[in-house]
Amino acid sequence: MNSHLIYNLKWSLLTDSVAMNEINQQILMANILIVDDQILNIRLLERVLTQAGYANIFSTTDPTQTIAFYTKHDIDLLLLDIRMPTMDGFEVLAELKTTTPEAYNDYLAVLVLTAELTSETRNKALTAGAKDFLTKPFDQIEALQRIHNILEVRILHKQVLQQNVELETRVKERTLELENSRLEIIRRLGLAAEYKDNETGNHVLRMSLFSQMLARAVGLSEEDSEMILHAAPMHDIGKIGIPDRVLLKPGKLDSEEWAIMQSHVEIGVELLSGSDVPLMVMAKNIAATHHERWDGSGYPAGLSGENIPIEGRICALCDVFDALTSERPYKKAWPVREAMDHIRSQSGNHFDPKLVEKFDQILDEVLVCRQMHLDSVP
Ligand code: C2E
Ligand code: SIN
Ligand code: SIN
Ligand code: SIN
Ligand code: FE
Ligand code: FE
Repeated sequence: MNSHLIYNLKWSLLTDSVAMNEINQQILMANILIVDDQILNIRLLERVLTQAGYANIFSTTDPTQTIAFYTKHDIDLLLLDIRMPTMDGFEVLAELKTTTPEAYNDYLAVLVLTAELTSETRNKALTAGAKDFLTKPFDQIEALQRIHNILEVRILHKQVLQQNVELETRVKERTLELENSRLEIIRRLGLAAEYKDNETGNHVLRMSLFSQMLARAVGLSEEDSEMILHAAPMHDIGKIGIPDRVLLKPGKLDSEEWAIMQSHVEIGVELLSGSDVPLMVMAKNIAATHHERWDGSGYPAGLSGENIPIEGRICALCDVFDALTSERPYKKAWPVREAMDHIRSQSGNHFDPKLVEKFDQILDEVLVCRQMHLDSVP
């Protein structure tokens, strides 16, 4: 903790008497532990502290009990004698440092009680983690003043830590919000493309969910599978650029129309290029390769086999499965069994054989998902 910051914080709080009253109350509620082999010293300190209004005082004449007390009572201030027969104050500090390192991060207030304050004792104690000293016999006013000051720093430090935690939580919430709105925009972008040729359909949602399932099933990481889920909705974004007379044509396309239709791939790539955000790179890859075919007969590049990125191969299969089992302006919906027969027959031709095999294995799961996201009847 930066002492300058604490100073500024103290100063701003001092100028605010309400806050200051609150701090003073917290100081009086602090958990104080006195460790001294002389019971009379303990009694004296206890009396002085109680009269000053301190409410939570613990004590022991056995220094080996310090850690136990510290852990059990969430100690804010340790009043520690240096010269004790079983275990001296330095040893207590060393043990505290090794067994409860958080005590140091939390600014544990340690006040060392000592009869003579030689510079050697002083340096040794400071190095071991002491924050201040009280020389015996104590001057009561001075002792109370030092105890108050050290506890004030401790309490303010705790508040700053608490604020940091709250700040971190808020940053995390904001990041999540941003992430969610980003995904929402992407989803809407995908819907925009789908809207023209399917006003009621969930095609984009279904093929994206199937793609995530298939990605998981072939052993892609959870992170990559989720990225496919979020990138796949943009596979047909280029259809935005296809004229309605082609896109919405009820029957077969002629060769000029078919050339226009195929250009949805290049239009999509153009729309999705130029970003180095991994999700956008993947979306671009999917848009670019979702009509490539395993045997090299697809478009636009005629890539084959594993030259087609895995995300493109996965989306190609899931896109066709959902297109076949859905109604289109140009075709009726196929029964699932016929769609699967077609896909199996295209293993090694249109589709990656390993993916066809996996898709077959997860078909039950895919069908449950499909059932949950059927198109609503307009
Ligand atoms: P889409 O409707 O989303 O179809 C995606 C892919 O599913 C098609 O890619 C094709 O591989 C497969 N598919 C869909 N329906 C059938 C079918 O009846 N038989 C077979 N064997 N496969 C089918 P493809 O062929 O590259 O087409 C890309 C997009 O072009 C289609 O997306 C659709 O929007 C459009 N399209 C394709 N053929 C026609 C057509 O005859 N008429 C119209 N109006 N549009 C078409
Ligand atoms: C499409 O997105 O091209 C049509 C989807 C559907 O009919 O479900
Ligand atoms: C077309 O419908 O014009 C071509 C469809 C295909 O390549 O499967
Ligand atoms: C994979 O790449 O993870 C399996 C699918 C394939 O390469 O064909
Ligand atoms: Fe497409
Ligand atoms: Fe599609």
